Amino acid sequence: MSAYLNGQFLPLAEAKIPVLDRGFVFGDGVYELVPVYSNKPFRLDDHLRRLQGSLDGIRLANPHGIAGWRDLILRLIELQDFADQSIYIQVTRGVAPRDHAFPRGVPPTVFMFAQPLLTATPEQKAAGVCAVTAVDNRWLRCNIKAISLLANILLRQQAVDADCAETVMLRDGFLTEGAASNIFAVKNGVLLAPPPSNLMLTGITYDVVLELAAAHGIPHEVRAIGEAEVRAADELWMTSSTKEIMAIVKLDGAPVGAGVPGPMARQMDALYQTFKQQVMRA
Ligand code: PDD
Repeated sequence: MSAYLNGQFLPLAEAKIPVLDRGFVFGDGVYELVPVYSNKPFRLDDHLRRLQGSLDGIRLANPHGIAGWRDLILRLIELQDFADQSIYIQVTRGVAPRDHAFPRGVPPTVFMFAQPLLTATPEQKAAGVCAVTAVDNRWLRCNIKAISLLANILLRQQAVDADCAETVMLRDGFLTEGAASNIFAVKNGVLLAPPPSNLMLTGITYDVVLELAAAHGIPHEVRAIGEAEVRAADELWMTSSTKEIMAIVKLDGAPVGAGVPGPMARQMDALYQTFKQQVMRA
C-alpha cells in the first residue's frame, strides 16, 4: 500500500509525522474520502470542492489547486495493486510548538493513502442494517469535514454497542445525519432529505441520490424532518461513499416500515449502480 506524505510517495508503513503535528495534538485539520471504482475516482471534482470548503472553514490555505490534487490522486491510485479503492486525504495546519493560535509560516501537512474499497455485498444490502438514535451533541459546524471526530466516534460507538451499524442523530427534535453518513427517509412514496446546513455534512452520495431522484421522476422533498416522521417512516437509508445506499430496517429495536429494505431503497441502489458504471465507462 503506497501513501503520499508532503511531496513524497512511499509505503504506508514508512510514512511518519512529527508528534507536534497539529493534527495529532489538536485535531487541527480536515479530510476527504474519495471512492475509486476500477481505478477511476468517483466525483473527484465534487470532493475537491468540498475539501476547499472545509479548508476555507478552518482558514487554512489550500496547498494545491484542483489540477495539482487531481495529478497527485491519480498517481496514488496508479500505485495500488487493487482497483476499487478509498482514497483518504488529510490536510493539517502543520508542525509547530503547541499553542492554540495559528502558527505563522508553517507549511500544512498533506497525507493521503489508499485502502481497498469494501462496499456492501448484495446479501448485506438485502438484509439491511439496524440503527439507534441519539441526540446530536456535536459542534455547530458539521458542514466542515474536520478530522476532530471525537463526537462522531462516541456516537457511532453507541450503535456498535447495540450491535447496530449507525447512529441516527436528532438535534432539537429534527434529523441531522448519521455518525458517518447521511440519512434519508421515505414516506408514502416520497423521498425526504434534510436540508444542507451547518448542522450536517452534505455528502457527495447525498447529492448523487437527489440528482438521480430528480432525473428519474422520484418524488422528493428537501426539508426539515421531525423525530416523529423518522420513527414513522416507511423506509430509512444511510448513504455514504463507502456504504452507498444502505437500508436501515430497525431503529431503536423497532422495525422500520415492513422491517426489510423497501422498494425505493432497492430502486435507488439500482440507479446508483448503473450511474457508477456509466461514469466509469465515460
Ligand atoms: N464519511 N456525514 C458524515 C458525518 C460523514 O462522515 C460522511 C462520510 C457523510 C457522507 O458523505 P459522502 O457521501 O461524501 O461519503 C455524511 C466518510 C465515509 C468517512 O468519514 O469515512
